[in-house]
This record gives sequence, C-alpha cells and structure tokens, in this order.
Amino acid sequence: MDEFAEANRLNWDNRAELHSTDPTGRYRIATVLAGGSSLHDLEAGEIGDISGKDIVHLQCHIGLDTISLKHLGARSVTGLDFSPKAIAAAREFAAKAGTEARFVEASVYDAAEALGQTYDMAYVTWGAINWLDDINRWARAVSSVLRPGGTLYLLEGHPTMNQMYPDRNPLTVELDWRTPPGEPNGWDDPQTYTGDERPLTHVRHYEWIHPLSDVVNALIAADLSIDYLNEHDIVVWKAFSFLVETGEDQFTLPEGQPRIPLSFSIGATKRN
Ligand SMILES: C[S@@+](CC[C@H](N)C(=O)[O-])C[C@H]1O[C@@H](n2cnc3c(N)ncnc32)[C@H](O)[C@@H]1O
Repeated sequence: MDEFAEANRLNWDNRAELHSTDPTGRYRIATVLAGGSSLHDLEAGEIGDISGKDIVHLQCHIGLDTISLKHLGARSVTGLDFSPKAIAAAREFAAKAGTEARFVEASVYDAAEALGQTYDMAYVTWGAINWLDDINRWARAVSSVLRPGGTLYLLEGHPTMNQMYPDRNPLTVELDWRTPPGEPNGWDDPQTYTGDERPLTHVRHYEWIHPLSDVVNALIAADLSIDYLNEHDIVVWKAFSFLVETGEDQFTLPEGQPRIPLSFSIGATKRN
C-alpha cells in the first residue's frame, strides 16, 4: 500500500470507530438492525428490483448498506473494504441484525482475488472513487467481479461539486477537474462529516477528482456498456453549509444560486 492509501486507511479506521457508534443518526443503524434499509430514496429507486441477485458492495464501510441490500431482497450480499475496523463493525452489525452477509477486508484493486467469485451486481455509492488514484484500475476491478450480463450501479458526489471551495458562498471553483495520480488533494479535517463532535486522531487523508468522461471511458475500456448516466441536483450530505434540505438526508442549492450537478449515477453492464 502506498503512503496515500495507508494514510487513508488509518483515517477510515478512525472514522469507522466513530461511525459505528454514531450518535447523530446519520448512518440509520437502528433502522438496519431492525431489518430495514439505510438506502436513500435516490439509490433505492435507481437500483430497482434486486430480488434474487448476488450483490457485491465495494468500499462497503461499516456494512449498513450491504446488510440493507439483503433486507431488500438480494439472494446474497458481500461487502469489501480495506479498513479492518470497518469490516469488524460490519460483521458485528450483521450478527446483531441476524442477517447473512459476507465481509472481506481488501483493497478494491484486489477485489477479484480477495472475493474469489463473481456477482450479478456491483454496488458502489457515495464517496468511493474519490479515494482512488487510478480510475482505470478501479474499472478493471469492477469488471473482474461481474458475471457476463452483471451490472454496476455507481452513485457519487459530482466531480464539478468536488471542484468547489469547501464552503464559499457563492460557489467558487478551487480545484482542477482532474487530479493527477501522484498529486492528490490532501485534507486535514479535525472531525468526520456526520456532525459528530468527537475528534478524529488520524486527520490526514487524500482524495482524487475524476472527470465524468474518465469514469465512463474507464468502464467502457473495462468491457462494460453504459446503460445510463444521470446527473442530480441533490446530494445526501451537507456538502456546503448553505445547502437546503429537500427530503430526508437530501440537500440541494438554495433558490437564487446557479445550479450545478451535485451527484451523478451510472448504470453499466458487463459485456462478456
Ligand atoms: C465514504 S465510505 C463509503 C460509504 C458507503 N457508501 C457506505 O455504504 O457507507 C468510503 C469507504 O471506502 C473505503 N476505501 C477507501 N479506499 C479504499 C480502497 N483502496 N480499497 C477498499 N476500500 C477503500 C474506506 O475504508 C471507507 O469505508
């Protein structure tokens, strides 16, 4: 693991400890433990009927969406994440919920070897590819865990949103649209994004902005056909303090602001 990935893993171990004891309700832990779902309306609507599918949730964090996918009718669910603390928390939540789920600790780049099987669907949402330096390698990893005809569902913060200065109103472009692999954007957030006031101890982390065209072209090059590409003017966290709530855990820009896309989703199918 290189120095950027190692810093990110320590940061995510730290966040996993806080998120698995989340006092803010952001992670919908009680709902999932009671047999419900932590998916937001956007992704729940876009994935459609998942009954009977074998699903792999890549970068599953503390496993709540993974467990939810099983509650929503998947035949089997597997979560993969490189944070040992996140995987430990995910296993504990599955046991508490009484839900069958497999959790594997590995880098997403090593998914094929670590998982040892293929799936009908790869599910990747909300804050996954921004942690990765190589979008082509990621797309090949996704492709390698899908059966022919298997699908990817990807839902992410929009690269245009990620270019904006974190909290300047009106929106101001601060970052380049494409982050070189060896020159990530480094951040030192003292707290995590849930509103939890407890401090992070491993604050340093690194992120990459991948233009939409790079994501789409990486998937095409990795043998996937694009079924749809949607852009949305909502996001499920308060990415800027001046966003306004339009639904449960759903935020948009206030009236009077020029609208930019805040998130995007891609459906893609593995060719052969
Ligand atoms: C924002 S969370 C993803 C949230 C997820 N949608 C959920 O269900 O909660 C990002 C996750 O990516 C994981 N991650 C970051 N880089 C990774 C890598 N190279 N390989 C595997 N997991 C990684 C982190 O450990 C973290 O759990």
